[in-house]
Amino acid sequence: MPGLRVVGWGTAVPEKVVTNRDLEATIDTSDEWIFERTGIRERHVGGTTASLGTEAGRKALDQAGLTGADIDLLLLATTTADKIVPGTSPTIQHNLGIAGGAVDLNAACSGFVYGLVIANGLFASGAKRILLVGAETLSTITDWDDRGTAILFGDGAGALVLERTDDEGDLLSWDLGSDGSLTDLLYCNHGEKMQMDGKEVFRRAVRVVVDSATTVLEKAKINVDDLSLIVPHQANIRIIQAACQRLNIPEEKAAIVIDRFGNTSSASIPLALVDAIENDRVHGGDTLLLTGFGAGMTWASAVLRWPH
Ligand code: COA
Repeated sequence: MPGLRVVGWGTAVPEKVVTNRDLEATIDTSDEWIFERTGIRERHVGGTTASLGTEAGRKALDQAGLTGADIDLLLLATTTADKIVPGTSPTIQHNLGIAGGAVDLNAACSGFVYGLVIANGLFASGAKRILLVGAETLSTITDWDDRGTAILFGDGAGALVLERTDDEGDLLSWDLGSDGSLTDLLYCNHGEKMQMDGKEVFRRAVRVVVDSATTVLEKAKINVDDLSLIVPHQANIRIIQAACQRLNIPEEKAAIVIDRFGNTSSASIPLALVDAIENDRVHGGDTLLLTGFGAGMTWASAVLRWPH
């Protein structure tokens, strides 16, 4: 069965930077506390989900040497669509001149990996090229007076251009999960701001990441020693450290951008992946573990081989 290959990538973040020091002026917190407890130093804030998604998508197309006319589907992972209706993907589709369809998908912070797996299935049933975008403006649903959440979130976008292969492709294994009994741990009602039980999310997150990552490594028959890079969802550096420790993956093998971007939900995995590519940490034939978790709760992991 045909599968997928990554042929382009791009990211976008708004210009405005909000540092921990900036937050000290408005909430009872400190740069030291935030950095020590989360690994975050600053986050970017601003723009719209459509504008950030368009910019990341355009860079990914340029990088692949393609235009919107070459794409038959836009998949947008987001929890912060600009409007309730319509979805944000048609705006990005229009901005980029994409020839095919466009759809939003919301699996919270697991959305980008969900999108990757869905794309893989669509290649098996005839799609030729898919633009997968993760874009978020979490600042619009963050309560900036709540120190339990305001310190964590940021805005941004990342995109991959995916192409159908004649062979089985580079998505070696995947695992998708959901437990809707845990909806109350992290949610945002229409017209309101995000609510979160941080401690419980933390505890559950480590558990689901370890289980899901173990599942995909076993399915792909990959030993942790043969793993080139883990690209985890960037929610809290201590979650990443705890998961790496339990998985016996040296922390040096983790792609980390949380210090600069905070938690950008669907955008965090592509932001971390593209940062690793740009810093020459990803090479042809490498085996990457992408793993995310988020509200729902949902979780999603995939083993991806990097093309030569
Ligand atoms: N600044 C300063 N102090 C703070 C603070 C802040 N922003 N937030 C909490 N504190 C204080 C608390 O009041 C508490 O003080 P006390 O010991 O005097 O009672 C102390 O710091 C510890 O608070 P606690 O809530 O136990 O902190 P924590 O270590 O659990 O960190 C989070 C809080 C939110 C950073 C952490 O729980 C977390 O990251 N959870 C996961 C959230 C997540 O990943 N969400 C997204 C999922 S996709």
